[in-house]
Amino acid sequence: MGQEDLSRRQFLNVAVNAIGALITAVVAVPVAGYFIDPVLRNKSGAGNWVKLAPLGELGADPKEFQFSTVRSEGFMKQEVSAKAYAYVDGDKAKAFSNICTHLGCPAGWDGSKQKFFCPCHGGVYDKSGKNVAGPPPRPLPPYETKIEDGYVYIQIV
Ligand code: FES
Repeated sequence: MGQEDLSRRQFLNVAVNAIGALITAVVAVPVAGYFIDPVLRNKSGAGNWVKLAPLGELGADPKEFQFSTVRSEGFMKQEVSAKAYAYVDGDKAKAFSNICTHLGCPAGWDGSKQKFFCPCHGGVYDKSGKNVAGPPPRPLPPYETKIEDGYVYIQIV
């Protein structure tokens, strides 16, 4: 085995190791990002603020608003649309989802009875979204709200 063979062997070893390291990095970086991204997102506690409506469109009774947002799961992003009910309470805006906490049917506001009714199993919620009758175990899911530049925003987490 001559000096030339040894250097060829060393070169091949370095080349094989470099290619192996490159393949490992190509696979490992996205996988690590997939697992780390949700942890970092949750740690910040910051959700996605969505513009719901001009403050002037909200009244004393809950009103239905449609909104869309981008939901992220790992690297997957998907635009989803949903509904929120919102009303003005003093100098604040209150908002919550209309998804019933029993089995997920959409509850609707009945202004004449000042209650939300779920059509599936008779769940009833009061104006603030609190469960008051029927099988729902919890209030309608609330949204954090903020008012900025005359618009109401809700926080999607
Ligand atoms: S899903 Fe609303 S009461 Fe059952």
